[in-house]
Amino acid sequence: MTTETTTTETTTTETTTTPGALVFPDGFVWGAATAAYQIEGAAAEDGRAPSIWDTFSKAPGNVADGHTGDVACDHYHRYADDVRLMAGLGLAAYRFSVAWPRVMPTGAGTVNAAGLGFYDRLVDELLAHGITPYVTLYHWDLPQALEDAGGWAARDTAARFADYAAVVHGRLGDRVRTWTTLNEPWVAAFLGYCSGEHAPGRRDPAAAFRAAHHLLLGHGLAARALRAAGAAEIALTLNLSPMIQTDGGESEAKVVDGLLNRQFLDPALRGSYPEDVLEIAARHGGLGHIRDGDLEAIHQPIDLLGVNYYNPTFVSAAPGEPAAPPFPGSEGVRFDPPPGATTAMGWPIDPAGLETLLVRLSRDYPDVGLIITENGAAFDDRLTGDAVHDDDRVAFLDGHLRAAHAAIAAGADLRGYLVWSLLDNFEWAYGYHKRFGIVYVDYETQRRVPKDSALWYRDVVRRNGL
Ligand code: FCB
Repeated sequence: MTTETTTTETTTTETTTTPGALVFPDGFVWGAATAAYQIEGAAAEDGRAPSIWDTFSKAPGNVADGHTGDVACDHYHRYADDVRLMAGLGLAAYRFSVAWPRVMPTGAGTVNAAGLGFYDRLVDELLAHGITPYVTLYHWDLPQALEDAGGWAARDTAARFADYAAVVHGRLGDRVRTWTTLNEPWVAAFLGYCSGEHAPGRRDPAAAFRAAHHLLLGHGLAARALRAAGAAEIALTLNLSPMIQTDGGESEAKVVDGLLNRQFLDPALRGSYPEDVLEIAARHGGLGHIRDGDLEAIHQPIDLLGVNYYNPTFVSAAPGEPAAPPFPGSEGVRFDPPPGATTAMGWPIDPAGLETLLVRLSRDYPDVGLIITENGAAFDDRLTGDAVHDDDRVAFLDGHLRAAHAAIAAGADLRGYLVWSLLDNFEWAYGYHKRFGIVYVDYETQRRVPKDSALWYRDVVRRNGL
């Protein structure tokens, strides 16, 4: 008996004391993420109508070198190969988004069976390879027809989104368990309607606050419709960033935290807007768009909060500084340059920020499970022969997984990690210049080459840890 115990202990000790080795909880979900407009291509096939990103990317000056998602990674035609690739990496989960204008070309009414058919085949292919599909319903490709009717600044778009969610669930709900309503509503509202860096390219702070509210309302209405239809797990994905105020103060960090983080967390998870955010919104077009009952509609029980984490935000006080374009209300706040190493996006590399964020979320919003729906980095990858030696990405991912593990050890209810991204893809206003994939894409030939990070990640998945 003593011997047996000793043996068991030795075995356990060996796995956990390999220098730096870390094991994640049983059932931890490992996967990768993409989004429709960034990879699918086939922009005009099988009845798909334009989205705001088609229109925006085709207008000169919006996207680097005039790149568009017309072809992207041609995933629409190559999805079966891409699923095989995922299976080869041992991925347990794949997060993809459904293109609304493929399914409902004008955003409402008529359903395009051929468009739905694509996702039907994709889901079947994933399941045949033992990969769990994680569906995101909105990753920024609003049907252009709905933008023409006012876009997210118009209240009706929220109701149309719930209808669309029900349609997609009607076709895939027998096989898909986890449904994410929105990806990063802050980006959709404030880069899309305020700074104009993203589609639809509007520059109107009042429209952005309305868009933010209608995105939240759309989330709530869709969540309610999905729940009524029997969806097993419902999620909302936010881009969240811990604030670091570099001059020792707090109030500037609080302003930006309100706009970026709490503006979305509080309504969705607590059923109320933070007072400081309401005060800013009131100064930018008023609060007339927030109607009685909206907060109850937004505050639906959800199962998972999807966390997209890339970096912390560094700020300091700078009286007289004008508001940063995507942050109306941030007058007097300076966005400081990152103090240390950055990625090819110029984004700070700060794994500790992920631990801080996850621990804060589980403290402030304890009733919802957490899943990292995006984390990753762009670097200037070079294809050498048949390989991409992206040591910088391996180090980035390793550091962030250690931070995620530390957060779990500190009590965060973190259930999975989906790396951004499976493939190099159309990085919005940067076009194809920024490569986030763990798999390299040669856009001339559409050849896929797993980078060293993909092979490293395969081992992480296999070991359920580092
Ligand atoms: C996130 C987006 C995703 C990708 C990464 C780099 O904001 O959700 O589509 O562009 O950034």
